[in-house]
Amino acid sequence: MSTRGKFITLEGCDGCGKSTQLALLSAYLKKRGIAHLFTREPGGSKIAEEIRAMILNKDNKEMTDSCEALLYAAARVQHLEEKVLPALNAGTLVICDRYIDSSYAYQGEARGLGYEAVKEINRYAISPDLTIFLDIAPEDAFARKRGIDENDRMELQGLAFHRKVYEGYRHIAEREPERFVPVDSYCSAEEVHKTIVSLLQQRGIV
Ligand code: TYD
Repeated sequence: MSTRGKFITLEGCDGCGKSTQLALLSAYLKKRGIAHLFTREPGGSKIAEEIRAMILNKDNKEMTDSCEALLYAAARVQHLEEKVLPALNAGTLVICDRYIDSSYAYQGEARGLGYEAVKEINRYAISPDLTIFLDIAPEDAFARKRGIDENDRMELQGLAFHRKVYEGYRHIAEREPERFVPVDSYCSAEEVHKTIVSLLQQRGIV
């Protein structure tokens, strides 16, 4: 039986540079022949992608906060059981673009549902071994990204909402400093990448 693979998640406010970092990390792992699965939330499997489309559809204005939180949790458990757990059990390193901490920050803090409620509806979710938080304030992230995606219901929420998301992430960093590690994301993409790689090396992941 192979040892269980490590489960790494990447978090941050919209526009924080996650996609760039995931591409750099993917290239790094491929070059070194390290087997891995890159995946994302919400989505990462057919059913979960369908739920994602429903959540992010900007026409779904009447969606309540609890419904939104439950849909993220439903997409999460489908993706986890269908994709992530089989890969981890086969000994593969799994890197996921967003995971439960997004629910703590966006639904728990910014929507105001609270930590306990989010924890409760995510009781099937396993804890990641390490979470990298790309630490940049939302106003700076949006400026760098040059605006918002007008078709994304979450990005359309306005700056006050995204500031609360950022606060939510800061609270997780205070609560779980070992697992949830902020990486200063004001520097160049190359420097952020180097910090992420050394973090993964320190933890014996790569
Ligand atoms: P996406 O286009 O994937 O954004 P990004 O490229 O910034 O990751 O859209 C995902 C959106 O869903 C993003 O605004 C964060 C939000 N989200 C939650 O609110 N709760 C969650 O549990 C997850 C996983 C994402």
